[in-house]
Amino acid sequence: MVAVAILAAGRGTRMKSDLPKVLHQLGGRSLVEWVLNSVQDLQPVRRLVIVGYRRELVIEALNQKVEGGLLSPLEFVEQPEQLGTGHAAQQLLPYLDGFDGDLLVLNGDVPLLRPETLQALLRTHQENQNAATLLAAHLPNPKGYGRVFCNGQNILQQIVEDRDCTPAQKQNRRINAGVYCFRWAELARILPKLTAENDQKEYYLTDAVNYMEPVMVVDVEDYQEILGINDRKQLAEAYSILQDRIKENWMKQGVTLVDPNSITIDDTVQLAADVVIEPQTHLRGHTQIEAGSRIGPGSLIENSQISQNVTVLYSVVINSAIAQNSRIGPYSHLRGHVEVGSACRIGNFVELKNTKLGDRTNVAHLSYLGDTTAGNQVNIGAGTITANYDGVKKHQTKIGDRTKTGSNSVLVAPLTIGEDVTIAAGSTVTEDVPNDALVIARCHQVVKPGWRLKQK
Ligand code: UD1
Ligand code: CA
Repeated sequence: MVAVAILAAGRGTRMKSDLPKVLHQLGGRSLVEWVLNSVQDLQPVRRLVIVGYRRELVIEALNQKVEGGLLSPLEFVEQPEQLGTGHAAQQLLPYLDGFDGDLLVLNGDVPLLRPETLQALLRTHQENQNAATLLAAHLPNPKGYGRVFCNGQNILQQIVEDRDCTPAQKQNRRINAGVYCFRWAELARILPKLTAENDQKEYYLTDAVNYMEPVMVVDVEDYQEILGINDRKQLAEAYSILQDRIKENWMKQGVTLVDPNSITIDDTVQLAADVVIEPQTHLRGHTQIEAGSRIGPGSLIENSQISQNVTVLYSVVINSAIAQNSRIGPYSHLRGHVEVGSACRIGNFVELKNTKLGDRTNVAHLSYLGDTTAGNQVNIGAGTITANYDGVKKHQTKIGDRTKTGSNSVLVAPLTIGEDVTIAAGSTVTEDVPNDALVIARCHQVVKPGWRLKQK
C-alpha cells in the first residue's frame, strides 16, 4: 500500500517569479502536474499535495485538472510558512495518522521522472524492507544538489546539502533526486525530531533520511530524469530534454518531422502515422492531427482537431476543428471555436472566429467571418466582412448553401441570407435575403458623358 506526497509549497525564489514555481509550464503541463502524472501508474491509495506559497493558485490549477477528468481527487495539505522540505513533510503527520503503508515523497519540481523509475524505486524499497529508499544520480554538474554518500552496498551514510558541503564533499557527483520512499511509521517517528541546524536554518527532509536505517540508494541510469527545476535556465533545459523525448516517440510512430529542431510539440498532442510536420511549426495543448495531414511550415496549432489529409500552411489555428481534405493558408487565422467542413479552402489573410462552415465552402482571400454559420458550397468573395459587432454586442450571420458573396461585401449582423443567393460586389447587406435572390445594395454608378473639369 503506497501513498504519495508532493512538496509544492515553496515559492521557488530562484525563478524570480510571482507564480509559484510548481505552476510554471513545461510542454503543456505545469511542473506539479508532471509529477502527479509520473505517479499515476503506482495507483497510490492517497495523494497529498503540500501547498503554501500562493496556495489558492496551486489548488485551483490542480482542481481544474481534476474536474477535467485528467486527475483523480487530491488532498491538499497546508504548510503555512515554508521552513524547509522537512517542515513540509511534518505537515503530513495529522493527515497520515495511523497510516500503515509506504509513503512516496517527491519534490514538486522534478518533472521528467519516468513511471518505470518510480516503480523500480518502490520495488527495491519493498523487497529489501528498507526504512527508506531514495533516488540518486551521477550528475556531470552536481552544483546545488544534496550529495549522497554511501557504503559499497548502496546503503546510505549521509546526505549533505550543497551549501553545507566541505570542498572535498562537493567533489562527489552522486546527488539526491528529491524522490524518496519511506516506511511511513518510521518517518512519522523521526519528523518531530528535526532541527534547523544548517546553513539555511531550515528543516531538511534529508535530515530525516539521515536518521533512519537502513536507507538504500537507487541510481537512475538517465540522469536527465531527475533534473530539478530551480531557475529559468533549468526550465529551458528540461524543455529541450522533453522535446527530444516527445519527438523521438512520434518519429517512431511514423510521423515525419522535417527539421525536428525547429518544431515544438506539447506532450498533450496526439498525432497519427503519416502526419508530416514541416519546419517552424508548433503544436500545443490538446491538439489531434489525423493521417495524411501536412502542417506547416510556419504554423501554430493549439487545442484543435485536424482530420485526415488537411494542409495548413503558415497559419494559426486555435480552439478549432478542420474536417478532411481542407486546405488552410497561407496566412489564415482560425480562433474561438471555428469548425471547417471537408474540402474547404481558407486562404490568404482570412480570419475566422466562432464560425461554422459546411463542406466545399471557400473563403479564399482577405475576409473576416465572425459568429457566422455558412452552409455547403458557399463562396465567400474576396474582402467579404461580417460586421458582427455593434459596439456593444456580437450578432450572428447565417449564410445558406451555394450562396456567393461578391467581393468587398459587408454583411451587417444579425443577418440571415438564404440559399443560392448572389450578392453583388461592394454591397452592404443590412436586411435578410430569401432563397434564390440577387442582392445589389450599393449606389448606382453615375456616368455623365462629355463631362470634363473646367480649367481656368
Ligand atoms: C532539495 C533537497 C536536495 C536535493 C534536491 C533535488 C532538501 C533539504 N534538499 O533541494 O538534497 O538534491 O531537492 O532537486 O530537501 N518545498 C516545500 N516547502 C518548503 C520548502 C520546499 O513544499 O518549505 C518544496 C518546493 O516547492 C519544491 C521542493 O520542496 O517543490 C524542493 O524544494 P527546493 O527548495 O527546490 O529544494 P532544493 O534546494 O532543490
Ligand atoms: Ca529543487
